[in-house]
Amino acid sequence: MEILQNLHSYLAYAVLAVLVLAVFNAFTGWLGKREFAMHKDLRLSLFALILSHIQLLVGLVVYFVSANGLKAIQTLGMGGLNSASRLLALEHPVTNILAIAFITIGWSRHKKTDDSTTKFKRIALLYGVGLVLILSRIPWGQWFG
Ligand code: HEM
Repeated sequence: MEILQNLHSYLAYAVLAVLVLAVFNAFTGWLGKREFAMHKDLRLSLFALILSHIQLLVGLVVYFVSANGLKAIQTLGMGGLNSASRLLALEHPVTNILAIAFITIGWSRHKKTDDSTTKFKRIALLYGVGLVLILSRIPWGQWFG
């Protein structure tokens, strides 16, 4: 099942890159009062939504197959986790599920208005919160290590 762990690890670059672009684009659109364009702004935010959902699914599978996911809790018990194992088995999964919920809400809320500035604002804020949450719980040491 190493292939899924590798996939999760590599997909993370794409997810983060596209999310950063989508958040940046939404902030500039909002503050610059641009017209929300279907071919560019909608596609970019949809692409970020889809990639983060694929990463969520792969992450869920990794959680159940990896020794660092559910198995770590089963072997060590909640109290036996140290800060590194707690990050992988608990904080990273829970925070990222929450982050992707924020991103999904941002996507559906932007569709509920026809006003371009409001669309950008909703994506900027809700995708932005999602991105900050994701960045706060990346196992940086293990990823680059
Ligand atoms: C956008 C969301 C996510 C991003 C950007 C992300 C990114 C990452 C990265 C960079 C790693 C380290 C990979 C490595 O060691 O090379 C990792 C590990 C891990 N992720 Fe995620 N992840 C996300 C969502 C999730 C979700 C939703 C879950 C579970 C429900 C999850 C479960 C895990 C687990 C269990 C590991 C440890 C794997 C192992 O060491 O065997 N991830 N993730």
